[in-house]
Amino acid sequence: MKLQSVKDCFMLANGVGIPCVGFGTWKIPDGAETEAAVGHALAAGYRHIDTASAYRNETGVGRAVRESGIERDQIFITSKLRNPEHGYDNAIEAFGRTMDNLKLDYLDMYMVHWPIAKPHRDRWQEDVIETWRFFEEQYQKGTVRVLGVCNFLPHHLKPLLAACEVRPMVDQIEIHPSFLQDEAVAFCKAEGIQVEAWGPFANGKLFEVADIQEIARDKQRTVSQVTLRWLLQKDVLPLPKTTTPARIIENTQLFDFDLTDDEMRRIDAIQGCGNSGLFPDTVDF
Ligand SMILES: NC(=O)c1ccc[n+]([C@@H]2O[C@H](COP(=O)([O-])OP(=O)(O)OC[C@H]3O[C@@H](n4cnc5c(N)ncnc54)[C@H](OP(=O)(O)O)[C@@H]3O)[C@@H](O)[C@H]2O)c1
Repeated sequence: MKLQSVKDCFMLANGVGIPCVGFGTWKIPDGAETEAAVGHALAAGYRHIDTASAYRNETGVGRAVRESGIERDQIFITSKLRNPEHGYDNAIEAFGRTMDNLKLDYLDMYMVHWPIAKPHRDRWQEDVIETWRFFEEQYQKGTVRVLGVCNFLPHHLKPLLAACEVRPMVDQIEIHPSFLQDEAVAFCKAEGIQVEAWGPFANGKLFEVADIQEIARDKQRTVSQVTLRWLLQKDVLPLPKTTTPARIIENTQLFDFDLTDDEMRRIDAIQGCGNSGLFPDTVDF
């Protein structure tokens, strides 16, 4: 399907459509700032909001969604289980808190935020599988429509896929020019798992890289637009974050141009903004 707007969907393995650009909310303070940013995003056409228990802004996200006046079933909302909340019993409480914060009857997607929680590092596989049992129950009950994971590389996905009854439908990993994660993307594609890109602008570092500036100039688009378009053309779902109203709109204007194969290759080859250093096997939380 040719994507034509920010509201168009990628189709997940269970038949649920997920709007093809998500609005990231990490580091946006809860309260007025989150409400304003998410409100602007919904007004600009986004129908997919990415929050997490760890971002501590679920309350503002929920309020902005309710105040938007947009029908609940037109908005796709993701939240995530924090590392200290791994484990079946902990997950019951954590999910309850998330739903209280958001004030929703159901969540569109619930994700395991990281595969390896520091307190359970020596038994992370059992830990993930036990946590996943709670996720599967929510899916069967209909309180969650889509199950996802974040920061799972193939060696984290394999034991989960071998043990689960309901497979993860989405994996959210760090991807941006100079950090392509090709192996994880190929693995997910082969397994029918939709990939989402967190940090598509390398948390802002990308805007300083001369090569992407040059490609954007040649294309008469902005750095953010060529980057988000590059992800969409790889069938990867980007999660750009900005609190700046003009940028919120700019980051939706992706559907009236294509990148050529040569332009895609030029962006693939970009170096210069490294990665976040948040590696799933070693995160210290
Ligand atoms: N699952 C995970 O472990 C994980 C980890 C990290 C992030 N995430 C998700 O991914 C989302 C995005 O990642 P991120 O927040 O790290 O950063 P990002 O989206 O890569 O970059 C955000 C930065 O780019 C700037 N920006 C955005 N659009 C711009 C534009 N058009 N022109 C110029 N500057 C622009 C923003 O500035 P202003 O806001 O000042 O405009 C901000 O400084 C997060 O918000 C979160 O939802 C998930």
